[in-house]
Amino acid sequence: MAVRKLVDGVYEVGAIDWDRKIFDDLIPLPDGTSYNSYIIFGKEKTALIDTVEPEKKEILLDNLKALGVKKIDYIISSHAEQDHSGSIPDVLKLYPDAKVVTNAKCKSFLKEFLLLKDDVFIEITDGEELSLGGKTLKFIFTPWVHWPETMSTYLIEDKVLFSCDFFGSHRAASHLFVENEHRVIVDAKRYYAEIMMPFRTQIKKNIEKIKQYDIKYIAPSHGPVYPNPEIIIKAYEGWISDKVENKVLIPYVSMHGSTKKIVEFLTDKFIEKNIEVVPINLTVADVGQIAMELVDTAGVIFASPYVLAGAHPSVVSTAYLANALRPKVKVASIVISYGWGGLGVKQIQEMLSNLKVDFIEPVMVKGYPKPADFEKLDSFVTEFSNKLKEKIS
Ligand code: FEO
Repeated sequence: MAVRKLVDGVYEVGAIDWDRKIFDDLIPLPDGTSYNSYIIFGKEKTALIDTVEPEKKEILLDNLKALGVKKIDYIISSHAEQDHSGSIPDVLKLYPDAKVVTNAKCKSFLKEFLLLKDDVFIEITDGEELSLGGKTLKFIFTPWVHWPETMSTYLIEDKVLFSCDFFGSHRAASHLFVENEHRVIVDAKRYYAEIMMPFRTQIKKNIEKIKQYDIKYIAPSHGPVYPNPEIIIKAYEGWISDKVENKVLIPYVSMHGSTKKIVEFLTDKFIEKNIEVVPINLTVADVGQIAMELVDTAGVIFASPYVLAGAHPSVVSTAYLANALRPKVKVASIVISYGWGGLGVKQIQEMLSNLKVDFIEPVMVKGYPKPADFEKLDSFVTEFSNKLKEKIS
């Protein structure tokens, strides 16, 4: 339990989750996370911005009691995903006169997910303001970060933007404000990569929208508060831009060493050509690492052995993820190590339908690679590199 002051009359009362290691049963959280909830005391009204993951509700409720909160007038719900909304029913039990303030779409989700009744809501529109007395909340709809109903709230007098998942990062830390700018950008990139990458166009619009405001602090609902908001806005602008890095990502699996030998050869050849190359062994990598590399890589080569007459399931799963994340990749291909045959190339290629890439002819290697295979791989790297150069310039 800990209450952390953001500015006069505004406190963070949520929960730090030091032990959580996975989110959505998919996304690794190597450094835990936090579910930030903010209470704002106006002269007349009190508002709570978002709640916490239900399993941590006691921490939120204890923090409210510790602060001596006698009443909450408004619970602002920025996003219906349960790590922020899931404890709303518990807050309502403690503060039964509170109203849940949100947009129409979020309201419909909250009714579905939390079984909240219609009369508990106050529905607001984009740009609407709500006065607490000396503190005024302005609601700014910022959809698709990463659900369709997501919104931000700007506290006009203190110039704080409460952005929920937008600009957030997964890290459990005792300090409220960013202490290590490099580290928070890496954390935020991982978070952006895992859930926001497919929505670049919408995020661009949202950034243009929030940049119209004079923002002193960005207070997300995961990770630390930015007292220097330009650093995270600039980082996002880079990630959503059309710019890609002269880089090749090679996600691979090798069961008996042949695919590994191929990947080592490819890696050396790309290094010779002064192209950054990132081989990632899927057996030991985490999904977040792959997603982060996909944010700005120009090239991707899936390298797989055949097993069960197809590509290795770990490579298939990564191709599925890459397709769902819709990265800015420009050039792609596949290299296969096989014993007698299979349909892995077609299988992987068909899974990449969302990617707007130039596809380089895949290379198939039977058994352990031999001199003739290395010649083919050498030509493959040359062709891949030339295409990269053409697409980047
Ligand atoms: Fe942090 Fe989309 O929930």
